[in-house]
Amino acid sequence: MMAGTDLMGRTAAVCRRIGRWLTLALLAAGALLPLASRAASVFEDSMAQRTLPCTLCHGKEGRAGPDGYYPRIAGKPAGYLFNQLRNFRDGRRHYGLMTAMVDPLTDTYLQEIANHFASLEIPYPAPQPAQIPAPALQRGAVLVREGDPARKVPACVSCHGAALTGVWPNVPGLLGLPRDYLNSQLGAWRAGQRQAHAPDCMAQVLRHLQDDELAAITGWLAAQPLPADPRAVRQPPVRVPGAASVACGSAPELGGIAR
Ligand code: HEC
Ligand code: HEC
Repeated sequence: MMAGTDLMGRTAAVCRRIGRWLTLALLAAGALLPLASRAASVFEDSMAQRTLPCTLCHGKEGRAGPDGYYPRIAGKPAGYLFNQLRNFRDGRRHYGLMTAMVDPLTDTYLQEIANHFASLEIPYPAPQPAQIPAPALQRGAVLVREGDPARKVPACVSCHGAALTGVWPNVPGLLGLPRDYLNSQLGAWRAGQRQAHAPDCMAQVLRHLQDDELAAITGWLAAQPLPADPRAVRQPPVRVPGAASVACGSAPELGGIAR
C-alpha cells in the first residue's frame, strides 16, 4: 500500500515535470526566437533579452528554480559556467532543452552569458535541515574536509576551497545547493552521464566512494550555511603533502598537475 502510494506520487511528480518542461520549452523557444528571426533593427541584443529564457527555468536572476531540479547559476565562477554551457553543447552533459538552447551559440556568446550570471551576487537560501542521522553527518564532514587517504579519496576542500565556496574561475562552490541537485549530479557523474574536460577529476574522485558515503557527503553539504563571504576564492587551496592526488582538465588554476 505504501509502495503503491509512493509510486503514484512519483508518477504524478514526473507528469507534472513533463508538463512543466513542455510549457517552459514553448516559452523558451518564444523568447529565443527573436535572436534567430528578427532583424537587428527591431530586436535589441541586450543581456536581459539573451538571458530571459534562462531565467524561466533557472529562476529570477538565475537564483535556482523552486525545487532541486533547476540549478542556481547566479554567482558561480565564470569559467565553470562557460565550461558547463560548452559541455551541454558538445555532449559532455545531457539535458535536451539546455543542449537545444546552447547548440547554435558561439563560444564568445556563451562566455558573455557566463560572465553575466557569474557577476550576480544574489543571497543564498538557508541551509536545508539535516535529514540523515548524526553519525552519517559526521562521516560526511570528515570525507569533505579530509577525504580518506588510505583509500586514495581526496578531500573535497583540496579543490573546492577550504570554505567550499569554489576557486575562481573554474571550480564551483559546494554550498547553497539542494541535496537533490547534488545527488543527481554526482549520480550522473558516476553513471558517465555527466563529464568534464579530460582528465575528469570528479569522475576519478567518485570512483572510490560508496553510495552511503555519497549520501553522507551530500546530506552534510546541503545542511551547511554559506560563510559571510560566499564568493569563490582567488587563490587555489594549498596542496596537503601526502594527500591523494587527481588532476582536473577543466581547472588549470589548480595547478594543472595532480592534487
Ligand atoms: C527548459 C529549462 C531550461 C532553460 C530554458 C535553461 N536551462 Fe540551464 N539547465 C536546466 C536544467 C534542468 C539543468 C541541469 C541539467 C542537469 O541535471 O545536468 C541546467 C543546467 C545549466 C547549467 C549548469 C549549472 C551547474 O551548476 O552546473 C548552466 C550553466 C545553465 N543551465 C545555464 C543556462 C543558460 C545560460 C540558459 C539560457 C541561455 C539556460 N540554462 C536555459 C534547464 C534549463
Ligand atoms: C581534484 C579536484 C577535485 C576534488 C578533490 C573534488 N572536486 Fe568536485 N569538482 C572539481 C572540478 C574541477 C569541478 C568542475 C568540473 C566541470 O568543469 O564540470 C567540480 C565539480 C563538482 C560538482 C558540480 C557542482 C555543480 O554546481 O553542478 C560537485 C557537486 C562536486 N564537484 C562535488 C565534489 C565533492 C562532494 C567532492 C569530495 C568528495 C569533490 N567534488 C572533490 C574538482 C574537484
